[in-house]
Amino acid sequence: MWRPWNPADEERVVALCLALYTEDPSIVPVGEAKVRRTLALFRARPDRGLVAVLEVDGSTAGYALLVPWWSNELGGEVCLVDELYVAPEARGRGLATELLRTLAGGTGPFPNRFVALQLEVTPGNHRARALYERLGFEPMRNLSMRRRLLPDPGDAC
Ligand SMILES: CC(C)(COP(=O)(O)OP(=O)(O)OC[C@H]1O[C@@H](n2cnc3c(N)ncnc32)[C@H](O)[C@@H]1OP(=O)(O)O)[C@@H](O)C(=O)NCCC(=O)NCCS
Repeated sequence: MWRPWNPADEERVVALCLALYTEDPSIVPVGEAKVRRTLALFRARPDRGLVAVLEVDGSTAGYALLVPWWSNELGGEVCLVDELYVAPEARGRGLATELLRTLAGGTGPFPNRFVALQLEVTPGNHRARALYERLGFEPMRNLSMRRRLLPDPGDAC
């Protein structure tokens, strides 16, 4: 079952987030302090982002970072699924599928009616990409571009 997070979930979410970056590394380092800053922002400003927590048999087995943003082009609120992780022992049971379907349907604990869902997948992550394609995600026509303005804060608090 996916549900919105609460403060008691923080330690487990940090651990799962670090596990995601160990398994599917980014080109920039992501350490504990960075994760905690994100969670502190989401706690103080739920309009900036929500953590969805996956509970399986009474323990936390996954998380997703859901970041809403307004798209003029699409005419409404888009939900960026910024990170999605299901712990190895809980995989293959349709739990990621359930979250993405729930978000698409605007049902369950996430009642927002988004005009679109958006996510990124690392180039070598073929299985995750196959999953997203099965659920109707398509590559975007425009190439994303980014210009970094500040150096990576690293793990300094
Ligand atoms: C990708 C992931 C969220 C899927 O969660 P899940 O609950 O097992 O997914 P579902 O049960 O709804 O769907 C199963 C599909 O997920 C994908 N999948 C399964 N294991 C996976 C893995 N280790 N890595 C990536 N994708 C995987 C496959 O497409 C699988 O279908 P298949 O068994 O027919 O190949 C989960 O495997 C995961 O957290 N992987 C590691 C982190 C990751 O790659 N996150 C995505 C970043 S974009």
